[in-house]
Amino acid sequence: MAGEKIDYVFKVVLIGDSAVGKSQILSRFARDEFSLDSKATIGVEFQTRTLSIQNKNIKAQIWDTAGQERYRAVTSAYYRGAVGALLVYDITKRQSFDHIARWLDELRAHADRQIVIMLVGNKCDLSDERAVSSDDAREFAEKESLFFLETSALEATNIENAFQTVLTEIF
Ligand code: GTP
Ligand code: MG
Repeated sequence: MAGEKIDYVFKVVLIGDSAVGKSQILSRFARDEFSLDSKATIGVEFQTRTLSIQNKNIKAQIWDTAGQERYRAVTSAYYRGAVGALLVYDITKRQSFDHIARWLDELRAHADRQIVIMLVGNKCDLSDERAVSSDDAREFAEKESLFFLETSALEATNIENAFQTVLTEIF
């Protein structure tokens, strides 16, 4: 759709513990690329992708920051203007799921009240190492009124679906 006009720009933020796969989810969505030796993010990065939803051209501006506290950017600036969020944990790391409640608190403290939130259980390709059941995650998501999907940035499972769902709901 080069040269076509953009109808809306939507800012979506990625949050969650370090190494859950936020940057690779973004890389898969924005460029259809994946790397197994991804480096920890320092500060903030963002990438955009323009897509068509209900005949409108939507520019999705996806922001990615460090899961590690010491590398994180200014929190309020990161959340400012965000209309969607992917709250990511790793299905093989129980701790990354246990921390989701804290990430959700931070998100709710800083973001707009109407922000659309998707809980994302990433690395579903590693089902042999699963440490968080889909039922536990679904239950948490229902209690907190979040969307929920399990994804794999490696296999490109549900990545498109996760962003499409959030962007369509914002819209
Ligand atoms: P920080 O930037 O430190 O917050 O981490 P991050 O959440 O951005 O994690 P990153 O995307 O850098 O991925 C961490 C590691 O997990 C890398 O080795 C990735 O290749 C790997 N990884 C990411 N997504 C997947 C996935 O879906 N499946 C598998 N098997 N590995 C993944
Ligand atoms: Mg990262």
